[in-house]
This record gives sequence, structure tokens and C-alpha cells, in this order.
Amino acid sequence: MIAALRTPEGEAALARAGELAGGDPLAAAAALRASGHPPHLAAAALTQAELRVRAVPKFGADAARMFFTRDGLQQATRGPVAARRAARLFSSGVRRTADLCCGIGADAISFARAGLRVHAFDLDPGTVAVARANVEVLGLSDLVTVSCADVAAVDPTGFDAVFCDPARRGGGRRVFDPAAYSPGWDLLAALPGRVPRSVLKLGPGIDHALVPDGTEAEWVSVDGEVVEAALWHGPLADVARRATVIRAGEASQLTGSGSRVGVAGPVRDVLYDPDGAVVRAHLVAELADQLNATLLDPSVASRSRSGARRWCPSNSGATCG
Ligand SMILES: C[S@@+](CC[C@H](N)C(=O)[O-])C[C@H]1O[C@@H](n2cnc3c(N)ncnc32)[C@H](O)[C@@H]1O
Repeated sequence: MIAALRTPEGEAALARAGELAGGDPLAAAAALRASGHPPHLAAAALTQAELRVRAVPKFGADAARMFFTRDGLQQATRGPVAARRAARLFSSGVRRTADLCCGIGADAISFARAGLRVHAFDLDPGTVAVARANVEVLGLSDLVTVSCADVAAVDPTGFDAVFCDPARRGGGRRVFDPAAYSPGWDLLAALPGRVPRSVLKLGPGIDHALVPDGTEAEWVSVDGEVVEAALWHGPLADVARRATVIRAGEASQLTGSGSRVGVAGPVRDVLYDPDGAVVRAHLVAELADQLNATLLDPSVASRSRSGARRWCPSNSGATCG
């Protein structure tokens, strides 16, 4: 269907669907058919126009030129998160990376824009067609190759780095158990042994026990929502734990061991609710140090989400009741 939308007739249908997007869907379909577009093309153009509107928060102005599948958009990395990861890989000296499980290509696009050459792979032919179209419309074909393959059969050795963002959905639902990711945890956990500069993008609920010693685990939030955990292996690991908090496009970071127990103190006049990325990264004690604050309950601050959320700056000069 992507091929049909990229013909002159498909582009005309897409342009008209873009004008009609946001209105009554039945009226839009009737208007498109009345303009002479066959029903299947009209339906595809309207779906694409709707997805482009939905994609704006993740892709900004690029959304108007890109192609999407519903699942692909849902699973795609947000533009600013992908751009930060790509810049970090580039500044670590990586020039050629494999993108295993590329989806519609959000990460591959950011890698290329950061200056990396990318070989991207995905199992699903429809998704591969969308990723290829996106690479082309964004003018990145010289830097990105997209292949349809099961990554279990891909040899990632020979790349400077490998990035893998496994599917975390099954049967239309989000999957939380890494064993149920596709590809499975065994393949993911073995990647750093094959390519030392490996980066795995995982769900934010990943268990710290699954993070190998010497690997950096980074939790990322965007405007208050924790969107992913990323494991940076081998020479890419800088610290044990990192929280990256992106708000209104501005990023701030906190790093540490993730195992410190903070200092407890009485409740005073301000309760501070740390960002979820800081909580997930077990960096509440480090944040308390930075703000000269104390924790309500140090025993839970480095372990559970609920208990780590409320604490009090110690320089507030007043005691909370
Ligand atoms: C989370 S999405 C990737 C999103 C992508 N990083 C982006 O930002 O656009 C996961 C993708 O993995 C693909 N996938 C799942 N199992 C796979 C396998 N064994 N080999 C290759 N691709 C696979 C799915 O088809 C899906 O497109």
C-alpha cells in the first residue's frame, strides 16, 4: 500500500486526505472518492493522513512527509530521544551501526542524521517498506540500508555498534516480561558478547537484576512520562545508572551507582516529587544530595517506586507538619 501512495495518483490522494484530516471521517472518505480516487487508495490515504497528525508529537515537522503503520508509530522512539542516543553513539566514535528491529525507522533516521551509516533490519515486510519510504523521503538513502530479515539470522559482528529495540507488544497488548520480547531475551542478552558496543532499548519497568555489572542503565523521561530504559554495554557504558529527564525539549541528567541509600529526615515545608526516570534509575539519594534534601524513607527510596516519591529539601528552613 505504501508503494501505491507514492505514485502520482497516491500522492494526490494523500495531499487531499491531508486537507480533510481532523474532520468527519465518513465525509472525508466520500469527498476523496468523489474526487475519483478508488476506495482502497482513499482509505489508505485517510489512514496515513490521520497517522501523520498523530505522529507530530514524536516527529515534529517530519511527520508530514513520513509514512506510518499504527503499530510502528506506537512503538517508534520519540525524535528527541533517538537524536540524543544517536549523538552519543557518534561522539563515542561509532560510525557504522546495525539497527536490529528498525520498525518504521525512527532510530535509523536519527543515527543517519547524526552522521552514522546504518544497516537496519526488520522481520515484517510491510514495516520494512515503510522504513525504506521514510529513509527516502527524508533524503537519507545514501546512509541507510533497510533489509527484511529475522535478526536471529543476522550477523552483527563487523559493525562498530549494534542497537536493538525489540518488539514489546504481542496480541495487541504491551509486553512487560523481557522473556516475551521479540526477539527474546536470550538473543538480546548475548548481543554484547558479539558486539561490545551494544545498546538495548527496553521497557522502563526492566528489573535492575537484569542489568549486567559494567553496563550502564539509562532511564529516559519526556515531559514527565518515563518512555524507555536503555542498556549501554562495553566501552559505551559511562556510569552504572543514568536518568535523563527531557522537559520542553531541554534535557538534564543525573548519574550514580543506583545503590545508595539516602539520608532520612523529618518532613518540613516542601515535598518534592522526583521525576519517574530518577526513581526508576534508583537515583533519588543522589538527587537529594544535589538539592540538599532528605528522604522520608530511605529504605524504600532505592527500591520501590511508591516510597521514593516523597521527600523534603533540608534547606527549606521550616518543618512540615
Ligand atoms: C519497537 S519496534 C522498533 C521501533 C524502532 N526502533 C523505531 O523507533 O521506529 C520493534 C520492531 O521489531 C520487529 N521485530 C520483532 N521481532 C523481530 C525479529 N526477530 N527480527 C527482526 N525484527 C523483529 C518488529 O517487526 C517491530 O517492527
